Amino acid sequence: MCGIVGYIGTRAASSILIEGLKTLEYRGYDSAGVATISEGKLQRTRAKGKLKNLQIKLEGLEDPAKLGIGHTRWATHGKPEEHNAHPHTDTKERLAVVQNGIIENYRELRAELKAKGHEFRSDTDTEVIPHLIAEYLEHPEGTVLAEQSTLLEAVRQAMVRLKGAFAIAVISIDFPDELIAVRQQAPLAIGFGQGEFFCASDTPAIMPYTQAVLTLDNGEIARLTPMGVEVYDFEGHRQRKKPQTLNWNPIMVEKQGFKHFMLKEIYEQPGVVRTCLEAYLNTEWDVDSDRSPIRLGLPDVLLDDLQHIQILACGTSWHAALVGKYLLEQVSGIPTFVQYASEFRYAPAPLMPNTLTIGVTQSGETADTLAALEMEQTRRMATGEDQYAARMLGITNRADSSLGRLVPHLVETKAGIEIGVAATKTFVAQLMAFYFLSLELAHRRQAISNERIAELIDGLRQLPAQLEQVLESQERYVEELSHDFSQTQDFIFLGRGINYPIALEGALKLKEISYIHAEGYPAGEMKHGPIALLDEKVPVVAIAIKGPVYEKVLSNAQEAKARDARLIGVVPMNDAEAEETFDALLPVPDVDELLSPILTVVPLQLLSYHIAERRGLDVDQPRNLAKSVTVE
Ligand code: F6R
Repeated sequence: MCGIVGYIGTRAASSILIEGLKTLEYRGYDSAGVATISEGKLQRTRAKGKLKNLQIKLEGLEDPAKLGIGHTRWATHGKPEEHNAHPHTDTKERLAVVQNGIIENYRELRAELKAKGHEFRSDTDTEVIPHLIAEYLEHPEGTVLAEQSTLLEAVRQAMVRLKGAFAIAVISIDFPDELIAVRQQAPLAIGFGQGEFFCASDTPAIMPYTQAVLTLDNGEIARLTPMGVEVYDFEGHRQRKKPQTLNWNPIMVEKQGFKHFMLKEIYEQPGVVRTCLEAYLNTEWDVDSDRSPIRLGLPDVLLDDLQHIQILACGTSWHAALVGKYLLEQVSGIPTFVQYASEFRYAPAPLMPNTLTIGVTQSGETADTLAALEMEQTRRMATGEDQYAARMLGITNRADSSLGRLVPHLVETKAGIEIGVAATKTFVAQLMAFYFLSLELAHRRQAISNERIAELIDGLRQLPAQLEQVLESQERYVEELSHDFSQTQDFIFLGRGINYPIALEGALKLKEISYIHAEGYPAGEMKHGPIALLDEKVPVVAIAIKGPVYEKVLSNAQEAKARDARLIGVVPMNDAEAEETFDALLPVPDVDELLSPILTVVPLQLLSYHIAERRGLDVDQPRNLAKSVTVE
């Protein structure tokens, strides 16, 4: 996480850096800072808290500098205090560095540099970088490879010493016409303007100025000067690389009258589902046709003869993957395993033959997911055996992300940019991707009849209107209901089958934005322990949708009621049995249980939104979180 930005050119750097940081604030908002260089002076301004605090500090400061770097922080090492905010400098304050990532061997390096007389002023891992570069500037080691720039060479020598995943940008008063940027397992893009060049963790920071963008690969160093950009590898060899033209325009995303982005994004869900249906349903298909009902554009070699599917993801994407597992097993008939990417990296299952590996990540930048996929690709290739060949697929909302470059095939979720840190519309779009994939595979394998496929597709087509109905009918009621829970400390969410992951997602949404402790459980597991938590102070939200487990969930809810828990039910509309069981009802249209998660998640999103709002919390930027988790 953390966002970094850099500028060298002919305009005042400071405002370009701030505008860039605004677009990167989703990556962290614990503190922010900028450093610029002009007339032999390094000017550094940092502020604790959100970017607006930095902007207030910068107000009225005349800064003509045409070279600078900026940072918005999600704290890893060291509290979110001003002295830990980036940019960090060396002892003599001649160079400044911003970093996104983690330097794993910072303890040894810090001790080594302290012993050489370097003075440290922060608790961060990042601070070793400017000191190390300063050390190599004064005492270059071994063969100097990148002779054309002493700063580049010192950065290169320092990079070789660092362990971890990071991206950095460096400026120095001794090199007033250079900005050095490095990518090592954390995203970094370089923008090419007319006599001006940019670097940033994400392209929206660059797009207002140029659409010519070069994404660095891992282990690359870029030297930006007013004359152009040179790229080197860590051994100092020049790399010949050209920028690409990005074919989208930066959209100024506005709240459009909604109080928060999260609420706006919840309301965008019917449109997102519509867009997905338009993109991926084959309108020419009918039950008698041999062609696929779905248009994912994926090759046969990826999808044919599959024996297993494994899905790697984190957080909300992991919940979408659990719904995916249900669909891929129950609709397509393929054994599917879902793993947290962060766990899989260090304890992968033994290799299974003919396996499709799917990485799900809305940002396409989650470090654990990327690393797990890369590891899986490498270990499969190492076998050299066809049956273990890496069949890799990514599901993402950002085709231009690191995931997009890592895996050969993508399903784009087409949710549009999501600003609220808590994922809502991107989750629903991920579920849609799994509906399409499971139907595509079911059709290929004839796992279910064409008639059943047609029934499910028909159900999918109804979803946008049904989502609108849920939003229209529930918004006011959920807002009122939320008043009852603004002081509540614990919540339990129950679901079964395909709605168990929705219970997990409901609990995660509530935790993330309202800071209320919440647990999601498979309803049948309650009696094996968690039921001990229940009393009149712990509300229970149960998802009870018509299908094989409907009655079971109602019984599980009754068990909670018998322990005095207040019961809230996400239930089918106009259902007498549900009305009798629950104290509060969040009804959704009566749909095929397989399709219900798209609807059942919405009242839970609204509930957490309104509870958080009621508690006066920062819904779009909840504490301690960031939208893109680029550290391990
Ligand atoms: C929850 C949330 C996170 C992300 C997780 C993975 O609302 O947003 O749990 O789902 O950090 O992020 P991606 O999908 O970008 O890999």
